[in-house]
Amino acid sequence: MKKKIVILAGGYSKEREISLNSGKEVYKSIKNKYRCYLIDPKGDLNQVLKKIKPDIVFNALHGRYGEDGYIQSILENEKIKYTHSGVLSSFLAMDKYLSKKIFKENNILTPASFKHTFSNNINHKKLLSKANIMKFPIVLKPINEGSSVGVYITNKKNFFKNLNKLRSFNEILIEKYIPGREIQSAVLGNKKLGAIELIPKRKFYDYKAKYDKKANTTHIMPADLSKENYNKVNKIALKAHKLLNCRGVTRSDFRFYKNKFYLLELNTQPGMTSLSLVPEIAKYNKIEFNQLIEFLIKDASTSK
Ligand SMILES: Nc1ncnc2c1ncn2[C@@H]1O[C@H](COP(=O)(O)OP(=O)(O)O)[C@@H](O)[C@H]1O
Ligand SMILES: [Mg+2]
Repeated sequence: MKKKIVILAGGYSKEREISLNSGKEVYKSIKNKYRCYLIDPKGDLNQVLKKIKPDIVFNALHGRYGEDGYIQSILENEKIKYTHSGVLSSFLAMDKYLSKKIFKENNILTPASFKHTFSNNINHKKLLSKANIMKFPIVLKPINEGSSVGVYITNKKNFFKNLNKLRSFNEILIEKYIPGREIQSAVLGNKKLGAIELIPKRKFYDYKAKYDKKANTTHIMPADLSKENYNKVNKIALKAHKLLNCRGVTRSDFRFYKNKFYLLELNTQPGMTSLSLVPEIAKYNKIEFNQLIEFLIKDASTSK
């Protein structure tokens, strides 16, 4: 009897569309091997799980509720094995403020930043002088979003204008801008998988540069680094993966400047379309998309 697999894709986050694509690709890849159910977890997921009684859940969700420990805690409760990281690892990785704190305390370089909480009486002068210390341009970003949603690189003149665009997020990070290159490194099953370089034609690696083919972002696999630096960035990604006690696959995003790697964040639910970065990195290592998905399914578990 074939095993039953529920693939969760879609959901409520701002990365819904990307997740639907990831889910479809995963479905295509395993539909003949397992009894597959592609489910958009809107409404009562518990009800759906009780009805289907899956052996394993493949989590193809991205962003809020899918990548932040929420869905993981439901699956823990139901004692259903699921792919990728567990509750706490997901929660920590999704929160850039907390994860950067952990990185820093463990000697992983990450751009200087501080948390800004919106209130009705912002002291503009004080805030500007705090931001000034990091030297403009600086980066404004939500603490727990993904896909570059809400990321602004701003000069001093437009600082408050751009800051206001993020009001709905309640809390944001104000971060030092690191010029240089965009390098991302993947870890699969507690092993270094490799690093890719992205060269966007746009101002930075924003939503369009990530997902719109017309944006023509150049992918260089493997990243064009010296052997030493290539090993170094993969080593940092593995260290971050282990520090947060992650599982399955993760992708860490770096800036590379003046021979130093700055870790921006670690993603516990990286994109899984056939055009996504982790599958591209895996492919270079002769791990085909189907094998990657199969690895994650075999790796699925609940916390012990
Ligand atoms: N401190 C920074 N310096 C330079 N570029 C940055 C910085 N922070 C973010 N970026 C740019 O924005 C992109 C998205 O930021 P990231 O922190 O990875 O958030 P997300 O979770 O949205 O991917 C990065 O890949 C990079 O191109
Ligand atoms: Mg990122």
